[in-house]
Amino acid sequence: MRTNIVHEGAGFLEYEIRQIVEHANRMRGMGQKITWENIGDPIAMKEEVAPWIKEIVRDIVSQNASWGYCQTRGVQETRDFLADRVNAREGGVQISPDDIIFFNGTADAIDKVYELTHRNARILLPAPIYSTHSSNESKRGGYDPLHFRLDPKNNWLPDMEEVRRIVHYNPSIAGIGFVNPDNPTGIVYPREILEEFAEIARQYDLFLLVDEIYSHICYNGAEPFHLSQYAHDVPAISMRGISKEYPWPGARCAWIEVMNKNKDPNFSAFIDSILASKMLEVCATTLPQISIPRVFGSPKYPEHLKTRAAIFEKRANQAYDIFSKVPGLICHRPQGAFYMSVVFEDGVFHPGQKLQAANPQLREYVDALCQNVPGDKQFVYNLLASKGICIVPLTGFATDLCGFRVTMLNTDDTVRNTLFQEIADSVTEFLNS
Ligand SMILES: Cc1ncc(COP(=O)(O)O)c(C=O)c1O
Repeated sequence: MRTNIVHEGAGFLEYEIRQIVEHANRMRGMGQKITWENIGDPIAMKEEVAPWIKEIVRDIVSQNASWGYCQTRGVQETRDFLADRVNAREGGVQISPDDIIFFNGTADAIDKVYELTHRNARILLPAPIYSTHSSNESKRGGYDPLHFRLDPKNNWLPDMEEVRRIVHYNPSIAGIGFVNPDNPTGIVYPREILEEFAEIARQYDLFLLVDEIYSHICYNGAEPFHLSQYAHDVPAISMRGISKEYPWPGARCAWIEVMNKNKDPNFSAFIDSILASKMLEVCATTLPQISIPRVFGSPKYPEHLKTRAAIFEKRANQAYDIFSKVPGLICHRPQGAFYMSVVFEDGVFHPGQKLQAANPQLREYVDALCQNVPGDKQFVYNLLASKGICIVPLTGFATDLCGFRVTMLNTDDTVRNTLFQEIADSVTEFLNS
């Protein structure tokens, strides 16, 4: 009999954003037309990349150097450029180009960072959280997640006393991680909270791990406030990428910015192991890296970011206006990224709630799916069978809060409005059924 070859943490690998697609595709096979509202890919949702960005990429494709490997850390000129930008932030941590390491997407960086964290060291994460973080953290040791809560009744803010308490009573915690601006909640953490995270990290000798992939998508009064501006002397890793900003998710291009590496020998050895692991893969994709100084450095880029932020602000306010009127839902107006999470009030679910399915085969399929799953999944599956709208249940983001996430990515104002309204009406119908 062969020794078990399945990783002890394999059961923790969960990615509801794509898992829901499996069900949607089955329902499509049963005659349902699907409207995809589940994934954070602006290109799939028909955003047109700015012609001047495409022109830069076209030019780089014609350069032979863009077809080769690059240094393991990444293209030198790009790292010089990015380090200069970090160092230009007033009062921020200073880094060198060698403190930047490129990956094939932020997801690749997340995978490496969690995988190379010692099995006995835990990273404390919020709930809800983008599940690539929570799945990787749980998979590493096959252990249950260790979370602090984001409170939907308090603008999705964490209770910092709870964070402090969890850290205090769990000596295995070596780091605190979060996403800012956040997926799935759409919050941008206020500066005081960020400074408090750094203060707790300093006091308990932790490192900070902040996924800043959406850091330049802020609106409704929120401004980017980077990790380098509040880490001070705390060892820290910021994760950045171009998937959401250009946007170019297919480039699979992201990097980490490492802060205060040399102030902490253990953290330094940890970062060295991440680099060594990347060396085994040779390097990350060269071409998109070459484009970064030209795109970020273009005089057109600040306007590009401003225009997109204004678009997402308008869409987020539209979503908020619709969902905040629905009895039984708790909503918060998003301030960043391009998501909004809506939570069902306590006590709104009871057995037998349903939406009219489009045909008997769908009815049968959905009834089977809805056995022993939380209320939000029952709603989401019913919505698929009834209206063909594919959204992500909130419990797919490592939380026991029932709700769902919508995106602000549909480019057609009328279609988006109708879509949000249809989801809102379906909530009322489902809860009253
Ligand atoms: C918070 C967060 N981190 C990372 C990723 C993955 O980004 P990338 O395309 O750079 O792998 C996503 C994608 O949706 C995300 O929302």
